[in-house]
Amino acid sequence: MTYSLENGLLDELIEKHRPLCQQGSLPSYIPALTNPQQHLAGISIIDIKGSRYNSGDYLLPFTIQSISKIITLTMAILDQGEDFVFSRVGAEPTEDKFNSILPLEISSAYPPNPMINAGAIVVTSLINGKTSQEKMDRILNFTRKLANNPEISVNEEVFISERRTGNKNISLAYYLKDANVLLGEVEDVLDTYFRHCSISLTASDLANIALVYSQDGKSLTGEQLIPPMVCRQVRTIMAMSGFYDESGRFARRVGIPAKSGVGGGILGVVPNRMGIGFYGPSLNTKGTSIVGFDVLEELIEKLDLSIY
Ligand code: DON
Repeated sequence: MTYSLENGLLDELIEKHRPLCQQGSLPSYIPALTNPQQHLAGISIIDIKGSRYNSGDYLLPFTIQSISKIITLTMAILDQGEDFVFSRVGAEPTEDKFNSILPLEISSAYPPNPMINAGAIVVTSLINGKTSQEKMDRILNFTRKLANNPEISVNEEVFISERRTGNKNISLAYYLKDANVLLGEVEDVLDTYFRHCSISLTASDLANIALVYSQDGKSLTGEQLIPPMVCRQVRTIMAMSGFYDESGRFARRVGIPAKSGVGGGILGVVPNRMGIGFYGPSLNTKGTSIVGFDVLEELIEKLDLSIY
């Protein structure tokens, strides 16, 4: 049987997998993120012709969390060049939890990849800007451009919540500073990091951002927002480390470059085909939307979109 996005496939997948949300949980280490209702689920897709397909809660705002790491990585490469960025952070996958300090202790204080929190904190420190405010303004404006939505802003409540309780990230940043890996003022870098994790958007915005990465940096209107080689680098890092210690499982079962966030978002890139945005706040033990994982698995299989 041939499946297509035209005949209600997204509605079918959302309703089929939504009950899985009961098996997941909300991230209690960021108290403000325990507010959303666990059963929410929505998906938005935009293909390279500009056709859009949506289902469920695709217009509800949520915080981008770790999906922002692909945006900051892109900016750091644009600001400092690929060689410099990858001299401060590695490009190797890890088997540790996203906020683990273990790899820094065991092998090198230079974080193994830019997707784990330690690596992303270093990447944030590499973004140009005289103050944390200036860096954040640049990150927000770039995100708005990628999503083609000037309304995108920071959820201050989530920012304040994580700024107060994000002790793991605060320890990671001080550890990196002590090892001379993190340049700049620790508290300023943390401010920018927590703030870019708190950018609020919808699954529909995520789909627009994903489309840019799927078309080698071109927006839907044909504007070249990111050079093709930088896009390729970022897609590669997503494919290898976008889901931390379940990146292998995601590659095997789903098979596209993608990035998760504990706000419940997943951004999925089908090169030269489409951008996908998913929202479902109930998480599995690895910090991935539990409904999103299974919806994407079935979607990619039914439409035969795996890159492998
Ligand atoms: O730094 C943190 O822990 C959060 N702001 C983001 C973590 C995250 O989204 C992990 N990804 N699934």
